[in-house]
Amino acid sequence: TGRLVVLVSGGGSNLAALLAAHEGPAYPGRVVGVVADRASAGGLDLARAAGIPTAVVAPGDFDDRAAWDRALAESIAVFRPDLVVSAGFMRILGAAVLDRFPGRVVNTHPALLPSFPGAHAVRDALAFGAKVTGCTLHVVDAGVDTGPVIAQVAVPVEPGDDEATLHERIKVAERRLLVDWVGRIVAGGLTVEGRSVTVG
Ligand code: GAR
Repeated sequence: TGRLVVLVSGGGSNLAALLAAHEGPAYPGRVVGVVADRASAGGLDLARAAGIPTAVVAPGDFDDRAAWDRALAESIAVFRPDLVVSAGFMRILGAAVLDRFPGRVVNTHPALLPSFPGAHAVRDALAFGAKVTGCTLHVVDAGVDTGPVIAQVAVPVEPGDDEATLHERIKVAERRLLVDWVGRIVAGGLTVEGRSVTVG
C-alpha cells in the first residue's frame, strides 16, 4: 500500500475524500500522516478522528522561510511517504521539501492551469468572467502552480455563481480527480520527463 502524507491548511475536504477512499479494501493508498502549517487547520481534526498522526509546522515558529522549509521536510520525512499530497496547503513548498521528495509531491488546484494560479483561483476565474473552469492535479515544481499536469477536469461556471457556490462545484470534481489519480500513482508510479507525465 502506498504511503501518503497529506499537507493541509484548511478544512480538509480533499483529505476527507482520501480517508474515505481507503476504507474500501481495494484502494492502493493509505494516509499515514497529515502535516499542517497552522494549528487551526480543520484537516487536523479529521486526521485525529481517523487515528492518523499529525504535525504542525508553522512559519511563525521559525527564523526564516528556509528554516521553516527544512522543518517541514523533516516532519514529512518522519512518515516515510511514497507520495506527498498538497491538498489545500496554502504555501509555496521550498527546495528542502522538493529536493527530499523529487517528483513525488503533487498538488490539487481549483482551476484549469495555467489559468488562474495562486491563492484565489476561484475568485479570479469569476472575476475574469470565465464560463468554464475546473481543477488540476499537478506535480509540484519550484514555481507557483507551474508544475507538469497529471490530470484535469472542467467544471462549468453557472449564472449566479459566487465564489462559494463555484468552489463547492469544483470541489466535487476535485475530490474524485484526486482520489482516482493518487490511487493510480501509488499503484503504478509517476514518471516526469520535462512537462510530460506518465502514470502507471
Ligand atoms: C481546494 O479546492 C484546493 O484545490 C484549494 O483549496 C481547497 C482546499 O479545500 N487549494 C488552493 O487554492 C491552493 N492554491 P479543502 O481544505 O476542503 O481540501
